[in-house]
Amino acid sequence: MLFKNVLAISATATIATAEDVYLYVKSSNSEINGNSLSSLHEGAGINYFFLGSAPASALTYDSDMKTIYSSYSGLTQYFTVYEGFTGLTVIGPNAELTFDDNNTLLINGTSDSLYACKNTNDPYRYSEKEYGLMHYSADAPSECIPLSLVNGDAASSSAAPSGSASATTTTAAETTTVSTSCTSTAPAASTYTGAANQNAPAGAFAAFAAAAAAALL
Ligand SMILES: *[C@@H]1O[C@H](CO)[C@@H](O)[C@H](O)[C@H]1NC(C)=O
Ligand SMILES: *[C@@H]1O[C@H](CO)[C@@H](O)[C@H](O)[C@H]1NC(C)=O
Repeated sequence: MLFKNVLAISATATIATAEDVYLYVKSSNSEINGNSLSSLHEGAGINYFFLGSAPASALTYDSDMKTIYSSYSGLTQYFTVYEGFTGLTVIGPNAELTFDDNNTLLINGTSDSLYACKNTNDPYRYSEKEYGLMHYSADAPSECIPLSLVNGDAASSSAAPSGSASATTTTAAETTTVSTSCTSTAPAASTYTGAANQNAPAGAFAAFAAAAAAALL
């Protein structure tokens, strides 16, 4: 009985502090301004963020935990920043995420650290064609484009192209299907182990995952 009450309370607390957010790119560069984020599979439980033109998928913002996550088919992945890369990972949150008065995402209190970059040496090399969403506190590569992320309402954002909530849901399902098929067609991550050693930070999240797993032992 008591256990049941605890469950009920924690469920209520979760609902009270979690809200859907839809992240869009704001940049003076018109090529990327208004882009949404897609997250592509780059390793087990690890997706990297890339810029795209589809309506943004809903992510969940927890203002108590100061974290953003996605729960899909029972898998919870957190907005993670590590060695330049950003993505949704099972590793867990590692920066404080908040929004300022203008709905701009702040990472550890600043909106000045996000960039769109190509050729980031991500494990599956999507960044040869797509802009990856990268995080640099200082010394961003000069060819990267500075940007900020804004929480645009799904249906009526000034930053966002308009799109209905149901369209967004469909897109989320399609995105997952796409990234699953990428899993089966993309070369095994181990193919790039050699490259990762030569060209840090390839596979940075994978290294992080290994470190996190080791810390749990
Ligand atoms: C954010 O701040 C925490 C605490 O100081 C630090 O451990 C973490 O590495 C920071 N994250 C980023 C992405 O700067
Ligand atoms: C929000 O936007 C207004 C108007 O552009 C600006 O004056 C204000 O400084 C912004 N607030 C923050 C927290 O950036």
